[in-house]
Amino acid sequence: MGSEHLVQVVLPGIVAPEGLEIREAVVPDAGRGQIVIAMEATGVSFAEQQMRRGRYYDQPPFPFVPGYDLVGRVLATGEGVDPGLAGRRVAALVKVGGWASHVVLDAKDAVQVPDGLTAAEAETVVVNGITAWQMMHRKARVRAGQTILVHGASGGVGSVLVQLARTAGVKVIGTASARHHDALRELGVIPVDYRAGDVPGQVRELAPSGVDAVFDHVGGRSVTDSWHLLAPGGTLVSYGSASTRDDTGSKQWPVLKILARVSLWNTLPNGRRAYFYNIWAGRSLSKDRFRARLRADLTEVFAAVRRGDVTARIAAQLPLTRAAEALRLAESGTVTGKVVLTP
Ligand SMILES: NC(=O)c1ccc[n+]([C@@H]2O[C@H](COP(=O)([O-])OP(=O)(O)OC[C@H]3O[C@@H](n4cnc5c(N)ncnc54)[C@H](OP(=O)(O)O)[C@@H]3O)[C@@H](O)[C@H]2O)c1
Repeated sequence: MGSEHLVQVVLPGIVAPEGLEIREAVVPDAGRGQIVIAMEATGVSFAEQQMRRGRYYDQPPFPFVPGYDLVGRVLATGEGVDPGLAGRRVAALVKVGGWASHVVLDAKDAVQVPDGLTAAEAETVVVNGITAWQMMHRKARVRAGQTILVHGASGGVGSVLVQLARTAGVKVIGTASARHHDALRELGVIPVDYRAGDVPGQVRELAPSGVDAVFDHVGGRSVTDSWHLLAPGGTLVSYGSASTRDDTGSKQWPVLKILARVSLWNTLPNGRRAYFYNIWAGRSLSKDRFRARLRADLTEVFAAVRRGDVTARIAAQLPLTRAAEALRLAESGTVTGKVVLTP
């Protein structure tokens, strides 16, 4: 791109947030089928909290540029790409590489952001919105009149999930720290304090015959408790292992343990189903199908935000060069909503 100036945040190894480094270079050109995006908003996801500890199950070797998703304007298009894309606002899920002023990616991986959403608003629902939407509609297939349990109901994924579920006429029980309970009640969620202990007991009191679906990002013991809370015909969607973020040892083992349990439970003739949801599932089998599904689902989520069914919650906006502060803030557990990075 000649004179355009590239700024990237680099994760050099297992470091405290202050160990993040800033790298500067020239923006590369878009190759065939590619676009260059000028980033307008990227964000801190739970994945970066795991990656800086070396705890994300398939992170690349250090050093690398973190950043799970981004929103920005198409600055340049490569050969074979519709030049009319230039200037459009798009969103992309990248897993790593988003914490940069400019990102080069395949044009097919970009999803258009509708007018009426700011870049920061759109950013809050890229990885979080896709995850919530797909778990609810493609895995659990939750319907009006059902009751579900959402762990971490005030978190990034959880807060989108509970709003989508309430809009669909679903009764929602949500675990969260007590300080989030009033906000959850305002969304029509019945809150449960996971820090007060005996979560299964508290949920059973609210839903004595079990719940139709549980969404569990906690992992460890919680997955087994979640499975036992299901009503006949219910679905467990496990999708993380937040409780092992600070452990040492194998980063894959906590997920492998969940996968083994899920496989075992699915062999039991009791009418219940269990899944481990992975946002990247299916990509290596068919990129086109994966992209089509992602585009359709993210477009639904953007529409839900535009209608006001889902409120985009921005905890703070900081420039890219203050990524360390942003990461510390996200990890502090003191803010509600997404910590957004801007150029
Ligand atoms: N499988 C996939 O493809 C996929 C995709 C996206 C995200 N994820 C996973 O989704 C999880 C959530 O990500 P996020 O970005 O939404 O994180 P987040 O914004 O940090 O939210 C996580 C929430 O979990 C709550 N929490 C922590 N420990 C808990 C426990 N023991 N029981 C219940 N709640 C607990 C916290 O609630 P309080 O603040 O109320 O204490 C926090 O708000 C992460 O584990 C991430 O890896 C997986």
